[in-house]
Amino acid sequence: MKQDKETYRQLHLQADALITGESDRTANLANVAALLHDVTGYFWIGFYLVKGDEMVLGPFQGPVACTRIGFGKGVCGAAWRDKCSYDVPDVHAFPGHIACSSLSQSEFVTPILVCDQVVAFLDVDSERLSDFYKADLEGIEGLADIIAKHWTTWT
Ligand code: SME
Repeated sequence: MKQDKETYRQLHLQADALITGESDRTANLANVAALLHDVTGYFWIGFYLVKGDEMVLGPFQGPVACTRIGFGKGVCGAAWRDKCSYDVPDVHAFPGHIACSSLSQSEFVTPILVCDQVVAFLDVDSERLSDFYKADLEGIEGLADIIAKHWTTWT
């Protein structure tokens, strides 16, 4: 596995502490992206925020990425359409995958759901094939849940 369950448990505590008491959405998402990047070492970690009929790049760590993704487009758009996480062990095998970097080999996208509405996505890319294990998937989804819990208190 990339990181174990205990590492993600600690990460969740740290993330919750970081964003509790701070109401600025950009600052909080930026800090969460930095924390997850530091702890896991994944190649690209960032947020896409739902704005109307597309999603727009938010705070991230890693190389330059595409700015806007339409509903149903790429892995993120599919996750939006289906309102669920997507674990893609080989991005080259995913029809319609949007390649922001040729280094990306596998990807995990999970929605941030507030009152059953998708407000954003947490997107993680790896430069290795099949690089997301059970603990990673659960740990990253757990982080998205923590963000969702705070979301409506942010401006
Ligand atoms: N690969 C994504 C696009 C975003 S980048 O990975 C940062 C997709 O297919 O939706």
